[in-house]
Amino acid sequence: MVKARAHSNIALVKYWGKKDIALNLPAVGSISITLEALHTETSVVFDESLTADELVLNGRPAGEKERMRVSRFLDIIRGRHGLQSAARVNSINNFPTAAGLASSASAFAALALAASRAAGLELSGQELSILARMGSGSAARSLFGGFTEMHRGKRPDGGDAFAEPLYPADHWPLKVVIAVTSEAQKKTGSTDGMELSRKTSPYYTAWVESSEDDLSAMRDALAQKDFQKLAEISEFSCLKMHALAMASNPGLIYWNAQTLELLHWVRSLREGGTPAFFTIDAGPQVKIVCLPEAAAAIVNQLQGHPAVERTIVTALGPDAYVIE
Ligand code: PMV
Repeated sequence: MVKARAHSNIALVKYWGKKDIALNLPAVGSISITLEALHTETSVVFDESLTADELVLNGRPAGEKERMRVSRFLDIIRGRHGLQSAARVNSINNFPTAAGLASSASAFAALALAASRAAGLELSGQELSILARMGSGSAARSLFGGFTEMHRGKRPDGGDAFAEPLYPADHWPLKVVIAVTSEAQKKTGSTDGMELSRKTSPYYTAWVESSEDDLSAMRDALAQKDFQKLAEISEFSCLKMHALAMASNPGLIYWNAQTLELLHWVRSLREGGTPAFFTIDAGPQVKIVCLPEAAAAIVNQLQGHPAVERTIVTALGPDAYVIE
């Protein structure tokens, strides 16, 4: 049995759109930060006495859809290394699953690490990232701590579509305040949403073509630790991704009224001199990224704010690792 832990991440330069669904190749690169307070712990044991893979999620037998997704992922490892056995997988998130808090990122990163080790393989960080990508695009980034860049790659087999560490967490100790506005499950998952945008959004080509500029501007902002630049590029990439999604047909609206209210709230904070900006993934939660000295005051002000159900504060997290 091997147990591994991986932390969740949020993209500052976003990924939206796939070049190849089967290999899960992203149409654009992305840059993310790994989150210390949100993690998944997953244990895997391959057991010849099992007739099918078993999956326990947060203490309960998982639904068939989740079990099949994990089973298909394990097939990749089994197929490559001539392994026949089914596996027993036990996975626990320390945060609400599927509420737009990127549970698939930490889940597939932890699974890639635990399952490959349980199969007797010692994969490099790059190989693990490629493997995790097949489970979920954002999972490729969760193998690494701190600041991470995912490359879209050029090779048709996906051999160069992996994430790499840019800087460790202590390069720039940012904090993230997650404002949870709703814990309801999202209606359109990221894979379906991305495909709808690719097929129907008139902005899709512009989105893909402009992504390299955002990535290069973000690399500069991180190298210079220029917070104003970091804020501008991150909000630009986030709003551009949501504009792309909204311009799909039918339009994808991941926000609720509270999400929008908080965007204005964060902008006015920044205008007032607080070093903070927002980012939002395919869900209604607002992630407020700030310099460490600003975090406590932001949390205080959000306490009792009618738009916010609860807050989670986190520093930047470490690489994924094997626990036992
Ligand atoms: O790889 P997925 O299915 O978790 O998709 C991630 C999509 C976004 O969270 C919206 C953006 C991103 O880069 O994480």
